[in-house]
Amino acid sequence: MILLNPGPVNVSDRVRQALLQPDICHRESEFSELLGAIRQKLLQAFVPGEEDEYTAIILTGSGTAAVEAALLSSMPIGKRAMVITNGVYGDRLSSMIKIHRLGVPDMKYDWGVAPDLKMVELAIKQHPEVGTVAMVHHETTLGFMNPAKEIAEIVDRHNRVFMVDSVSGLGGEALDIGGSKMYLVAGSAQKCIQGFPGAAFVLVRKGFMERVMKYPKRSWYLNLANYYEEQERGTIPFTPAVQVYYAFREALDELLEEGVENRIKRFKGYAATIRTRMQEMEIRAVLPPESQGNTLTAFYLPEGLSYVQLHDGLKQAGYVIYAGQGQLENKIFRVANIGALTKKDIDGFLSAFESTLEKTRG
Ligand SMILES: Cc1ncc(COP(=O)(O)O)c(C=O)c1O
Repeated sequence: MILLNPGPVNVSDRVRQALLQPDICHRESEFSELLGAIRQKLLQAFVPGEEDEYTAIILTGSGTAAVEAALLSSMPIGKRAMVITNGVYGDRLSSMIKIHRLGVPDMKYDWGVAPDLKMVELAIKQHPEVGTVAMVHHETTLGFMNPAKEIAEIVDRHNRVFMVDSVSGLGGEALDIGGSKMYLVAGSAQKCIQGFPGAAFVLVRKGFMERVMKYPKRSWYLNLANYYEEQERGTIPFTPAVQVYYAFREALDELLEEGVENRIKRFKGYAATIRTRMQEMEIRAVLPPESQGNTLTAFYLPEGLSYVQLHDGLKQAGYVIYAGQGQLENKIFRVANIGALTKKDIDGFLSAFESTLEKTRG
């Protein structure tokens, strides 16, 4: 089955084979080596040249675990968080902070609408109690690229902490973490990194990590300070998904061999092929080209074709697409182009799409 959902993705045979390593105890030196290698490779991939300025903290869990740990761990006593949101995942950031009643009103925009930089700056100035500003990098709801670099500059200028959810971005969308002084960036193994679900991570600026160690624990399990302390000693506070970590290390090797820039280029090429052919078939993209990333495209459903019909027709042919969310659930479909896919897979999908469309259009 070819997966065109935004993760979990198809992985290579090499990554799948990496699951089949000998059983090990996570309190032994073999696991320390594995953990250390993953941490180092993450820094090499995502903060090249600034490896000494950052630390990578690994968690067992899906991307949400990393996002929630990063956000909650970033807040000292007496400070609040401000969320900039224009999609489902931004709204999740907001929900996380609302549970703890530590938010200020969200900077909320419609889906696919970029945050107004001047308004964000004004809001930050008006809220001296805001310590953390949080935003999604690639908003998977529609495949919208948020202006992470621009927001990072504003947040840094006002001496606040920028927390970025790049669960669907890292490895597929460029992000200058070191250059933009982003303090915390959350990611996960099962999307553009082409690993399996079950491993997630947070990249944290080292100087900031020293501060986080003194902050109150707002979650017992998802507390970055706890993970950091143990991982610096080569161990981990809770039972990790050992086999998934083996595959994660292999996926990172694959990423580093391909090169992050080349991977981004590969995905960008697939997205361009999909968008061009869809346009030829008169399937409209939801976002204008300048707002789109490299890894996912949201399209309006063609007239007379329901999502279920389209999905089921394509699944029969061996391709899995993804539904819209919320108010667009029955109006759009999404096609991701990440994972260990080849040009042949993309072309095969487009032919299957064309056939499905022809059948319904008669
Ligand atoms: C931007 C973004 N953040 C967070 C998540 C949540 O990740 P997970 O489902 O792995 O918890 C996703 C998943 O699609 C995502 O796209």
